[in-house]
Amino acid sequence: MGLMLIVTLICVLSFNSLAIFAMDVHEQSNLETYIVHVEFPDAQLASASPVEDLESWYNSFLPATIASSKESPRIVYSYRNVFKGFAAKLSAEDVKAMEKKPGFLYAKQQKVLPLHTTHSPNFLGLSQNIGFWNQSNYGKGIIIGVLDSGIRPDHPSFSDEGVPPPPAKWKGKCEFNTSVCNKKLIGARFFLDGNGSPADENGHGTHTASTAAGNIVKGANVYGKANGTAVGIAPLAHLAMYKVCSESCSESDILAAMDVAIDDGVDILSLSLGGASQSFYADNIARGAYSAMEKGIFVSCSAGNSGPSSGTLGNEAPWILTVGASTIDRKIRTTAVLGNKMELDGESLYQPNDFPPTQFPLVYLGMNQSDFNSGYCSSTTLSNVDVRGKIVVCDFGGGISGIEKGENVKAAGGVGLILINSLQFGYTTSADAHVLPATHLNYVDGLKVVGYINSTRSPTATITFKGTIIGDDHAPQVAWFSSRGPSQASPGILKPDIIGPGVNILAAWNSSVENNTNTKSTFNVISGTSMSCPHLSGVAALLKSAHPDWSPAAIKSAMMTTTDLVNLAKNPIEDQRQLPADIFATGSGHVNPSRANNPGLIYDIEPKDYIPYLCGLNYTNREVGFILQRKVNCSEVSSIAEAQLNYPSFSVVFGSAIQRYTRTVTNVGEANSVYTVEVVPPSGVNVTIKPNTLSFSKVNQKLTYEITFNRLSGVNVTMSQGSVTWKSAKYSVRSPIAAMFLI
Ligand SMILES: *[C@@H]1O[C@H](CO)[C@@H](O)[C@H](O)[C@H]1NC(C)=O
Ligand SMILES: *[C@@H]1O[C@H](CO)[C@@H](O)[C@H](O)[C@H]1NC(C)=O
Ligand SMILES: *[C@@H]1O[C@H](CO)[C@@H](O)[C@H](O)[C@H]1NC(C)=O
Ligand SMILES: *[C@@H]1O[C@H](CO)[C@@H](O)[C@H](O)[C@H]1NC(C)=O
Ligand SMILES: *[C@@H]1O[C@H](CO)[C@@H](O)[C@H](O)[C@H]1NC(C)=O
Ligand SMILES: *[C@@H]1O[C@H](CO)[C@@H](O)[C@H](O)[C@H]1NC(C)=O
Ligand SMILES: *[C@@H]1O[C@H](CO)[C@@H](O)[C@H](O)[C@H]1NC(C)=O
Ligand SMILES: *[C@@H]1O[C@H](CO)[C@@H](O)[C@H](O)[C@H]1NC(C)=O
Ligand SMILES: *[C@@H]1O[C@H](CO)[C@@H](O)[C@H](O)[C@H]1NC(C)=O
Ligand SMILES: *[C@@H]1O[C@H](CO)[C@@H](O)[C@H](O)[C@H]1NC(C)=O
Ligand SMILES: *[C@@H]1O[C@H](CO)[C@@H](O)[C@H](O)[C@H]1NC(C)=O
Repeated sequence: MGLMLIVTLICVLSFNSLAIFAMDVHEQSNLETYIVHVEFPDAQLASASPVEDLESWYNSFLPATIASSKESPRIVYSYRNVFKGFAAKLSAEDVKAMEKKPGFLYAKQQKVLPLHTTHSPNFLGLSQNIGFWNQSNYGKGIIIGVLDSGIRPDHPSFSDEGVPPPPAKWKGKCEFNTSVCNKKLIGARFFLDGNGSPADENGHGTHTASTAAGNIVKGANVYGKANGTAVGIAPLAHLAMYKVCSESCSESDILAAMDVAIDDGVDILSLSLGGASQSFYADNIARGAYSAMEKGIFVSCSAGNSGPSSGTLGNEAPWILTVGASTIDRKIRTTAVLGNKMELDGESLYQPNDFPPTQFPLVYLGMNQSDFNSGYCSSTTLSNVDVRGKIVVCDFGGGISGIEKGENVKAAGGVGLILINSLQFGYTTSADAHVLPATHLNYVDGLKVVGYINSTRSPTATITFKGTIIGDDHAPQVAWFSSRGPSQASPGILKPDIIGPGVNILAAWNSSVENNTNTKSTFNVISGTSMSCPHLSGVAALLKSAHPDWSPAAIKSAMMTTTDLVNLAKNPIEDQRQLPADIFATGSGHVNPSRANNPGLIYDIEPKDYIPYLCGLNYTNREVGFILQRKVNCSEVSSIAEAQLNYPSFSVVFGSAIQRYTRTVTNVGEANSVYTVEVVPPSGVNVTIKPNTLSFSKVNQKLTYEITFNRLSGVNVTMSQGSVTWKSAKYSVRSPIAAMFLI
């Protein structure tokens, strides 16, 4: 259980190092898993070849001596849909030999990626029997494929009560030995690193799958807290689990899962995992997602957990929905009561009934100026100090999860934990399943604790437990860890696209959290963009069920142009500092599923529209071909600037003073409708729109407008933000604008 949280939050503290490492998963020899890309000498062959031929053709790339070895086959996956190529265990010499073969493109050692509920449907405005949830039939008929750490199939969240049989197109498999799959969990596959079964040995996959499409479970809680009805966002949608992760996820497994999921017939792919930004032709998730998108599959991915620094997000291809994380309005409260009577509210899921309200000695090891790591409560630091019978104050972070810090304190004889944030973590706190009385305090309250300790000879404190409290009106607030834009791979596309619930989410778990008496249906509360992604995958399922003819880009546009921009207190959405969050933290804003169901206009994109965009990124013909899986000659395609893609948001990088783009909107609202434009120009930019009225007379009619961005003189900022909104009597269709100035 501790493991999971590390994966979700703490690994990501050291995300940059993790993401870059290219690590060997098969340590026993000098063989590494390489992903090998090949092309048919003649492009026509590509579509015609049956699978068996593909496999023998792939095999022909291996050095003769090893290709024939029946005992230890080197090819671990043969890919068909995501691209032409395979994954194989190879030495550096094998790769060298392969390079000479005709049709060889390139080989890259695979990377291992980190993995990046249930009040949240309510928080998103979904209520039973009324409104959009009912109109969308709770996602009925839609298949969500989840790439994650596997699933616990007997969990009540995956009961098929009320779920119809899967649609006839479904071709997936259930690779559990016993017949545990049902009409809810219609598929479960595992891959090479899956330990021989789709079972979840971690918890993460059970959690994300149930967030997207868990069935209704009454009386779900952890330690009796957050008690309520647990339900996923699309409770009548089907789930297919593709187990590609244990503690981390290997790229060859991810590609293999996407490859089969496309054939199986999923409608939505949900990936709560990923690495750092890369050019799209080198980004395996982006390439797999492209093939999926071409077949009409909606791909939703977590942005990553390496915030709050800018330019940290991944999974940013424009054909992917890139999801950041924000809070919900529920707190699971524990309060630190200091010896000076000061009361500071924090959070913890563990809420014992028998902790005495008496004051305990309070100790903080973080004031040692010659050791900046001393406050992180590693087991080594704690072994040097007597913390027996004391409450220990620990700094959040430092590559040790909050739960681990608590385990260390408990092992050293401490009675309680006060976890304090440093500046960068701000107001984001976690209600974790601690092993001892604990509270996680925000940055400002953490300073008060340190100030108090510093002010007295014998500081004391206790912790009191207040249970679940709904109504935090700072929510939704962007979490510190939510990775930020701008996109490195394509600065002309605004990313993240959207934010959704990702902090302290209650959802199904693989096993009981420690000493929880409720063993039948086990739940846990965890945080990460891993948790926000499946919320949006669930919303996509609802929209697809309500609008079966909408393309992936149309679904995305509907979500992005109808977001909420204010928190429950009606102030602009804040970041972890409680300052207005910028556009690179929120993207278009916070998802509002009911409004997304009826957006008025959509910005649609067809697969072929990405070709001039990719050529415009100045990728070589070969590189564009890697993504498209066919030959492309960019000299024969009219390249476009990134910002010219018909995207539902704008990101304008000012090199030249004037930039002009067009957008085409499709009327999906009322036949006769007139829209006028309302512009909030980013500071330093003059925005003009032609025409400024759009008059529609038919449903599905398309109209085009031109938007000109003119940089004003005397700009002294590096970025600013604004918006363009088309308004009719009934609808409001908003696109945010990010402006970046290369000074
Ligand atoms: C659940 O996951 C934990 C790790 O988080 C693991 O130790 C445990 O064995 C798993 N339980 C089951 C039933 O797979
Ligand atoms: C719920 O949806 C069904 C079918 O879409 C419809 O017949 C019914 O009237 C709806 N119920 C409510 C309360 O809106
Ligand atoms: C399924 O059966 C195979 C072969 O009997 C066995 O090796 C494997 O461990 C079983 N897996 C599970 C999840 O029971
Ligand atoms: C949770 O709520 C249900 C229904 O309101 C109630 O019956 C149950 O006792 C509650 N469980 C806990 C642990 O509070
Ligand atoms: C402060 O840290 C240094 C370096 O780790 C250590 O040698 C020293 O003993 C510490 N001082 C106190 C008061 O703990
Ligand atoms: C769990 O129960 C064991 C045995 O009763 C006890 O030693 C341990 O402290 C408990 N852990 C928690 C978190 O309460
Ligand atoms: C502790 O108090 C001293 C003297 O008042 C002050 O100089 C120092 O900055 C304080 N340290 C902290 C961490 O508050
Ligand atoms: C591509 O190259 C053209 C011509 O050199 C340049 O104007 C444009 O900015 C480049 N685009 C990108 C995305 O680098
Ligand atoms: C790409 O198109 C240009 C212009 O038509 C042509 O000159 C060039 O030979 C083509 N390149 C390839 C590799 O076909
Ligand atoms: C913005 O551009 C329009 C059209 O070119 C022009 O009429 C207007 O004066 C400009 N506004 C500013 C502040 O430069
Ligand atoms: C930028 O300009 C504005 C007004 O022109 C001024 O108020 C602000 O201080 C300037 N900022 C910087 C960083 O120079």
